[in-house]
Amino acid sequence: MDRRKLPVGIFDSGLGGLTALAELARLMPEEDIVYFGDNARIPYGTKSPGIIKKFALQDTRFLLSLGVKAILVACGTVSSNCLAEVGAESGLPVVGVINAAAKKAAKIAGANGTVAVLGTAATVRSGAYERELKRLGCENVVSRACPMFVPLAESWHPTADDAAANAVAEEYLGGVAKAAPAAVILGCTHYPLLSGVIQKHLPGSELISSGSESAGEMRALLLERGLAGAGGGKIRFYTSDDPELFRENAARFLGRDIAGPVMKADIETY
Ligand code: DGL
Repeated sequence: MDRRKLPVGIFDSGLGGLTALAELARLMPEEDIVYFGDNARIPYGTKSPGIIKKFALQDTRFLLSLGVKAILVACGTVSSNCLAEVGAESGLPVVGVINAAAKKAAKIAGANGTVAVLGTAATVRSGAYERELKRLGCENVVSRACPMFVPLAESWHPTADDAAANAVAEEYLGGVAKAAPAAVILGCTHYPLLSGVIQKHLPGSELISSGSESAGEMRALLLERGLAGAGGGKIRFYTSDDPELFRENAARFLGRDIAGPVMKADIETY
């Protein structure tokens, strides 16, 4: 069988991973992609490591059942808590969202600049970004969990002037702004939807979308392993919640309709 023709699998707890999908489809328009959003069980970021791992392995087995050739874990929470377990379960090439974003941030900040990491509670608690940034020689790291950003991005998509979103951002980012970070990693893949609001509170910082950066790493991996394919660029979506709701919310999230079928996945059975 020609493995190059198999699809790339992407999963997230919800819609945030669409930031990675959009970038991968842009970089590799010939790749077939299957996307799974676990919208029925979001958020992952407030849950314990054991539950996050259980969900991540179910998501992995679901994508395996669709015959994917590689997996992009487009969820900061899973990437920071159990990426190795996803790799072991699948036996496939796996990319998470941490390495590429940390590499870009370390380059921008240099040895003396500060990097801020914004993520879910589970991502910040894992310390995964700090470890990778320190490994890259970046010593000045401030991290902040921003749990309320997820429901804001998933269901509301506030503009930069939205009063409620700005009040939440002030609470989370006031302290971060004092550290004057050169680079800010949006370590949860939902956060780019709030870039306008976040940038207002951190005006001098460069924002890095961890989802978008991970697509470049997946591209490099597929090319390196001889797995880059000519599938035709077909994209299929699966959700653990209602497919029509996913289609509606995904269109709002991406700012355009999604092309391709949306199907229901009975994720608890995997
Ligand atoms: N997109 C997921 C992440 O990057 C976050 C949302 C969540 O499930 O809490 O962590």
